[in-house]
Amino acid sequence: MNIELRYQQVSDAERFYEILSNSTFKNFGVQPENIEAEIEYLKTNDERLKRGEHNYTICHNNIIVGGCGIKLNQHYKHIAALGYFVDTNYQGKGIATKAVELMENIAFNEFGVIRFELRISEFNIASQRVADKCGFVREGFLKKGIKVTDGFRDVYLYAKIKK
Ligand SMILES: CC(C)(COP(=O)(O)OP(=O)(O)OC[C@H]1O[C@@H](n2cnc3c(N)ncnc32)[C@H](O)[C@@H]1OP(=O)(O)O)[C@@H](O)C(=O)NCCC(=O)NCCS
Repeated sequence: MNIELRYQQVSDAERFYEILSNSTFKNFGVQPENIEAEIEYLKTNDERLKRGEHNYTICHNNIIVGGCGIKLNQHYKHIAALGYFVDTNYQGKGIATKAVELMENIAFNEFGVIRFELRISEFNIASQRVADKCGFVREGFLKKGIKVTDGFRDVYLYAKIKK
């Protein structure tokens, strides 16, 4: 499977909105209200990058099939967190697994990360499977461990340590 990551562009907004607003897309917790909101979000990526947030577009044969990101912990410099989503029409083909492998390579080998963390809702079985396949270890359960649009969500904490 030919999967590439590149930095997100404002022109990705239409395709991201299409993916994120699909009624069968679930578990992400954050949904843009309209394309304009997605454009505004993507415009903030330059500022986010200055705070150590590297957001990528996942491409398959030059088609945008998802998004992902690495957030460098600004206090504990050896730690980073990751996140990802894949278009419902492209799920189950190993795309998230490949994107995580690519992010791991960037985080460990370019950003000097030693500990790579992933927070996954207790109900998100697909993402837990991705974490397992990529060799992340479930370390604990965090009550209200992530903030989503309508409040907070309990999550499992996964981590992978650089060898
Ligand atoms: C989680 C997500 C990114 C996975 O993307 P993907 O490209 O389909 O992932 P992969 O194909 O690499 O792997 C998915 C695995 O989960 C499995 N899976 C999916 N749904 C499942 C379910 N309900 N029960 C058990 N396994 C399930 C698939 O079979 C596959 O495992 P396999 O390779 O052993 O067959 C995608 O479902 C998504 O975008 N979800 C919404 C956003 C999200 O949850 N992001 C993660 C936040 S932590």
